[in-house]
Amino acid sequence: MGGFSLFCFMFLLCLLGFESRGVSAGLGCNWGLQSTHRLPPDIVVRLMKDNGFDKVKLFEADPAALKALGKSGIEVMVGIPNDMLASLAGSPGNAEAWVQQNVSTFISKFGTDIRFVAIGNEPFLHSYKDMFIQTTFPALQNIQAALVKAGLGKNVKVTVPLNADVYQTDSGLPSGGDFRPDIHDLMLKITKFLQDNGGFLTVNIYPFLSLQADPNFPKEFAFFNNVANPVVDGPITYTNVYDANFDTLISALEKNGFGQIPVIVGEVGWPTDCDPNANIDNARRFNQGLLDRITKGQGTPKRRTPTDIYLFSLLDEDNKSIEPGNFERHWGIFNYDGSVKYQLNMGKGKSIVPAKGVKYLSRQWCVLSPSAGVSDPNVLSQSISFACQYADCTSASPGSSCGNLDPQRNASYAFNMYYQTMDQRKDACSFNNLSVVTTVDPSQPPCRYEIMIDIGKHELSASGSAKVAGTGSQLLISLMMVLALVTNGARF
Ligand SMILES: *[C@@H]1O[C@H](CO)[C@@H](O)[C@H](O)[C@H]1NC(C)=O
Ligand SMILES: *[C@@H]1O[C@H](CO)[C@@H](O)[C@H](O)[C@H]1NC(C)=O
Ligand SMILES: *[C@@H]1O[C@H](CO)[C@@H](O)[C@H](O)[C@H]1NC(C)=O
Ligand SMILES: *[C@@H]1O[C@H](CO)[C@@H](O)[C@H](O)[C@H]1NC(C)=O
Repeated sequence: MGGFSLFCFMFLLCLLGFESRGVSAGLGCNWGLQSTHRLPPDIVVRLMKDNGFDKVKLFEADPAALKALGKSGIEVMVGIPNDMLASLAGSPGNAEAWVQQNVSTFISKFGTDIRFVAIGNEPFLHSYKDMFIQTTFPALQNIQAALVKAGLGKNVKVTVPLNADVYQTDSGLPSGGDFRPDIHDLMLKITKFLQDNGGFLTVNIYPFLSLQADPNFPKEFAFFNNVANPVVDGPITYTNVYDANFDTLISALEKNGFGQIPVIVGEVGWPTDCDPNANIDNARRFNQGLLDRITKGQGTPKRRTPTDIYLFSLLDEDNKSIEPGNFERHWGIFNYDGSVKYQLNMGKGKSIVPAKGVKYLSRQWCVLSPSAGVSDPNVLSQSISFACQYADCTSASPGSSCGNLDPQRNASYAFNMYYQTMDQRKDACSFNNLSVVTTVDPSQPPCRYEIMIDIGKHELSASGSAKVAGTGSQLLISLMMVLALVTNGARF
């Protein structure tokens, strides 16, 4: 008995130790919903569990996702879209209603393990100008008060997901980090508030965008197993931009007296299509390097203890804004349907596994008819533009996985995307009599002619009714710090 009690006691201590850190290191992912054909939530939850994700971040309090996460054992971060900040900042009552409807209900009714609320999404992104500068902090205060009032003050912690452009470094080195001058005081107020309430900071880090934004960026430095181009910062040698970026924030925090506040990574990942650097090889190299660090419990030079990291992203989203670039729709480690894009070791020797139980539409495609008279190229190009106005043709853009198709196959690609996006409706394959339905898969690696999943809509109306909140350009970043590193940092 004695031994058993001692074991129990130590086990408890262990648990308490974990709890008191507030943030325990885990493997998280972002679950975005900006798809025309969303995988059923229960299938997504199973997919996350099968692949070892123990945390998930949602950009909005989607009821179906929150229900499916009930009793799943997965910890949930619920995001509040930027366009809701003004109303939540405006009145404590609005914040209380939001917490009641979007947090309390799901915890009590469905057993959803909501642990974190993310206030806004990169609200201080430079390109948003000052749109959310006035509302973010009051919304944070009101939501925190509402959580306390709802009796959730202990279990649900608040955070603000920040773009890496809220800090910069004038020296070009991570040790020179400080907050951007225009929001310096605001960042200190927010950080103090988070610290006082047991919250934490969340930062999104995108080595891919560093590379994409600057042709002179040293490519190897974007990856974890880089052997060239280290950056020497006093006693620390940085071998990758992820560490350098994260530690620039830590330096900013230390400089302002917040060296102890927990910081997690809310988004990090690599897309697979629609940019010269967005491909399977680079995505695998980056994400495998990231997963290996997580498995090893590795932190950064300035923060040795590991932190929570949420991979961006779980699934591709074909209705995401492409304002930052066509690659925006290709961040998933899985295709939109939960099929595996590339091999990944998820840790503990486990390979990535695909979604189970996915129902597809029939194995048929809409293609350019072999007998189509394409004598009038205008008619063809009009048909393609029409299709691509409603369907995602990003993979057929130059330099992408279907970017080298001949004009016939290119037309077929567009026709098929439209046909599939319209759930294979009969009238969705009738481009001025130029198209036919075929049961022969036109795919030729690496170009995939998609078949959409069955969302129960075959002959129903074409207009997607799914409402998608969230900010399309959540990933639009100007990486000032990285530019500073490149332009000022003489090291490379
Ligand atoms: C959350 O709660 C508010 C009530 O304040 C409601 O209007 C909103 O639709 C809910 N759902 C989401 C996804 O925010
Ligand atoms: C192929 O189709 C895309 C739209 O899907 C269009 O932007 C592109 O110009 C076309 N290319 C060729 C070679 O026809
Ligand atoms: C398509 O073909 C049918 C029959 O061959 C014809 O009646 C119809 O007018 C054609 N439609 C177009 C838009 O060319
Ligand atoms: C796609 O996004 C647009 C703009 O955000 C939205 O209006 C539309 O309803 C979405 N379509 C689907 C099918 O989700």
